[in-house]
Amino acid sequence: MTTDKILEVDNICSYYGQSQIISGISFELFLGSTVMLLGRNGMGKTTLIRSLLNLSPPHKTGLVRFKGVDISNKKSYHISQLGVGFVPQGRRLFPSLTVAEHLEMVYRQDNGDSWSPKKVYELFPEIARRKNNKGTDLSGGEQQMLAIGRTLVTNPDLLLLDEPLEGLAPVVADKVMKMIQTLRSEGLTIFWVEQKAKFITEVADLVYIIEKGKLVYQDSSENFASDKEIKKEFLGV
Ligand SMILES: Nc1ncnc2c1ncn2[C@@H]1O[C@H](COP(=O)(O)OP(=O)(O)OP(=O)(O)O)[C@@H](O)[C@H]1O
Ligand SMILES: [Mg+2]
Repeated sequence: MTTDKILEVDNICSYYGQSQIISGISFELFLGSTVMLLGRNGMGKTTLIRSLLNLSPPHKTGLVRFKGVDISNKKSYHISQLGVGFVPQGRRLFPSLTVAEHLEMVYRQDNGDSWSPKKVYELFPEIARRKNNKGTDLSGGEQQMLAIGRTLVTNPDLLLLDEPLEGLAPVVADKVMKMIQTLRSEGLTIFWVEQKAKFITEVADLVYIIEKGKLVYQDSSENFASDKEIKKEFLGV
């Protein structure tokens, strides 16, 4: 983790029609850090991510700067090209494409030590064995690996993950979590949304909590892990 800011978010407000869902969220992400955003059902986690990417709906106001560039009003595909990768909630695979096609379709070579389909198969041997299967024929865990792999081959500098462990059996969730830890240890900046988190000090540097569209808590994962009151008050655990 460094002191270089990769993402600066200032006073985001988001609306579906007349109803305001996000109310003045501001935060910063430092290059190489992993931030876990926690919040219960319906608190606005997905809406916040969609707002950062200008996916509509919602309609948003506020400022977002990525690597120093104002992306507040840029189109989603342009934000992706600049290096923001997004793994959506529910994986969103294409039913008619094979595993290999999912990766080859979006593979974006860059200079340096880039993520290629080959490197994705090394990280996820489970899906390497199923290259020619349709993505939607995979198990939940394998689908999640493919969804993450599909984003990695665009070679993002920042990875946004929306509930990657949702719906996975505990042992599979642990496996996916370990793979995300590998990405973290390679220095990728990760902004990760979950409802609840296990092993948080192992997987994140900082913890944010969102409650009804506002950030109500920001602290180190160590402090969060030892704070039972916070967990009870905002996460119901
Ligand atoms: N397309 C939409 N139109 C209108 N309201 C919406 C829309 N999508 C979400 N909402 C509302 O916005 C609020 C926040 O939803 P959001 O999906 O961001 O929550 P979330 O924290 O991601 O929840 P979950 O953990 O269930 O994924 C909820 O009250 C939801 O009903
Ligand atoms: Mg959501």
